[in-house]
Amino acid sequence: MTKAEAQQRIDKLKKEIDHHRYLYHVEDRQEISDAALDSLKHELERLEQQFPDLITADSPTQRVGGEPLPEFQKVQHTQRMLSLNDIFSFEELQAWEDRVKKLLSAGEQKQLGYFVELKMDGLAISLLYRDGVLARASTRGDGYIGEDVTENMKTIEAIPLRLRVLKNITQQNRVIRGEVEIRGEVVMSKKAFANLNAAQKKKKEPLYANPRNVAAGSVRQLNPKVTASRKLDFVAYDLVSDLGQETHSEVHSLLRQLGFKAGDHNYTSANIQEVEKVHTQIGKLRESLPYWTDGIVVNVNHLSLFQKLGVVGKAPRGAVAYKYPAEQATTVVEDIQVQIGRTGALTPVAHLRPVQVAGTTVSRATLHNEDEIARLDVRIGDTVIVQKAGDIIPDIVQGLPKLRTGKERRFHFPKKCPICGSAVERQADQAAYYCSNTFCFAQAREGLYHFVSKSAFDIDGLGPKIIDQLLEHELIRDPADIFALREADLLPLDGFAEVSARNLIQAITAKKRISLARFLYALGIRHVGEETAIALAQHFHALDAITAASLEELEAIHDIGGIVAKSIYAYFAEPAHQKLLKKLAQNGVEIIYQAPKRRTLEGKTFVLTGGLSSLTRDEAKDRIRRAGGSISSSVSQKTDYVVAGEDPGSKYDKAKELNVAIINEKELLQMLDS
Ligand code: IVH
Repeated sequence: MTKAEAQQRIDKLKKEIDHHRYLYHVEDRQEISDAALDSLKHELERLEQQFPDLITADSPTQRVGGEPLPEFQKVQHTQRMLSLNDIFSFEELQAWEDRVKKLLSAGEQKQLGYFVELKMDGLAISLLYRDGVLARASTRGDGYIGEDVTENMKTIEAIPLRLRVLKNITQQNRVIRGEVEIRGEVVMSKKAFANLNAAQKKKKEPLYANPRNVAAGSVRQLNPKVTASRKLDFVAYDLVSDLGQETHSEVHSLLRQLGFKAGDHNYTSANIQEVEKVHTQIGKLRESLPYWTDGIVVNVNHLSLFQKLGVVGKAPRGAVAYKYPAEQATTVVEDIQVQIGRTGALTPVAHLRPVQVAGTTVSRATLHNEDEIARLDVRIGDTVIVQKAGDIIPDIVQGLPKLRTGKERRFHFPKKCPICGSAVERQADQAAYYCSNTFCFAQAREGLYHFVSKSAFDIDGLGPKIIDQLLEHELIRDPADIFALREADLLPLDGFAEVSARNLIQAITAKKRISLARFLYALGIRHVGEETAIALAQHFHALDAITAASLEELEAIHDIGGIVAKSIYAYFAEPAHQKLLKKLAQNGVEIIYQAPKRRTLEGKTFVLTGGLSSLTRDEAKDRIRRAGGSISSSVSQKTDYVVAGEDPGSKYDKAKELNVAIINEKELLQMLDS
């Protein structure tokens, strides 16, 4: 091949490789396989080796990262790199708009509209392209002077080494003759972060706290090879240079045309009510997004207005970060105590110095079990990081042992149940210790709470507080006693008068007739949740048949595993439980079994998300189950349908991602009626 031919081929290969880079990183799709793309890259490499003087700065072979640097060079920014002020509520958003409006004329106020995008949680970077080719990449630094991290940024494939050709000729001429500056955020996906930490774990090396820290640390690596190994991504959010753009939405469109990923969740909103809606929507989506975001950025869309609003301190007036409440905070473990659940499991709970996390005060966090305490090496007196995600019980993510004073105390798992004093035991295959006494008061109390709860006997007005009083006054000892209560028993209790006592007794009487599945669930048998209870009911049709079933029969039921079957068998073999069942019957509890009428949804798994209008969630679940379907709480490949009601949550997005059929309430009703 002559040099001229090589030159032609190299040019074509570079274009082709960049085309596939663009598809993958910006459009999120692939036209050719990774292997085919690698093959093109290898061909390019070979040609460049043959003709080294044909290597240019924008060649994809230049992404590997050169030699380690002794230090980063300082870089003066062309325009100061600003940051954003944070707000946390709609009131603050209103106050921000009020301030904005005051600075605008009546005519300008009419033009006012917003561009909303995700606030990516990473590190801000400025990219300078000279004549269309990446010439310099720098960190923000103090806003005026940053550090030159060009070699590191070249290793990130989502950053084009050459800007793509714009259709508009004037704009294109501007790009290829002169400097174009783009700003954005270097981020690491949750997946890349998880993989990185998995590898750390394997190497028995310390885990990284969050993707943001890794992204920031990887950018500021003197050895570009380390950066290259970190699978970083880049999301652009600003075009500093003037290509004739008039709005922030045009900025985003241009960023995409130039070859950047520019955020997947961008919205133009006419007013702050719409902004608020987007904030709420993204709040629900956030967990299922591939990247960490800590809020949204609200920009005044018209750039002329944005300019006019100017800068106060370090932040522009025309944009704010509308953040979600922090989900992590640090606090001190004041004590570790053990709680007993209804199944007798001992759960260690950290009692914390109260701290605000994700908008609520957290004073306890579960430590799950002994192994988890050992893994985290949490001691009483330690400063720890607590995390709250969604409705999940707060968790301790890690301790900060460097802050220890020496007065911290290790926690030792009790050998005896702290409530009844019986021995505790841990089975080889389980993480939890259990109290060996089935009559343990704590278990009994938790069991009673469970017995009357919504998915079990569902007795209106009978919650933990009243159960506690009934226990204290020795009016009940076991669930069967509930059905022998009389109005007169309740009158001496706090907060009870004639009417309320009558109402509660009526509520109890009304629930004496109960479905077999609910009844089984109410018993609180270890490992028997709602779905298992339903499977048992549908298989046996009557309680007698279940109590008489052998272990083998139980094990043979579809959906019931060995451990669960053993637990069911052991429950009914216990004389105390047989006595309880008898007593329940004597006190008027009547168990009914209704065979599902039409099993049109046999074998189908449903997940519900969002509000339904013509039936409650529980009714919907009941009807699906009666038609033979089952309910799951999370979306997976095994889900057949996601029923999306009003304001669906992250399950909706998960369904989209996994290509699971999404149906609305009307379609569900049609399926049930068909
Ligand atoms: S616009 C005027 N848009 O958040 C400053 N910033 O505290 C330009 N960030 O320094 C910011 N995602 O590092 C903007 N979509 C986004 C962003 C974003 C993340 C970062 C950026 C900035 C910081 C502001």
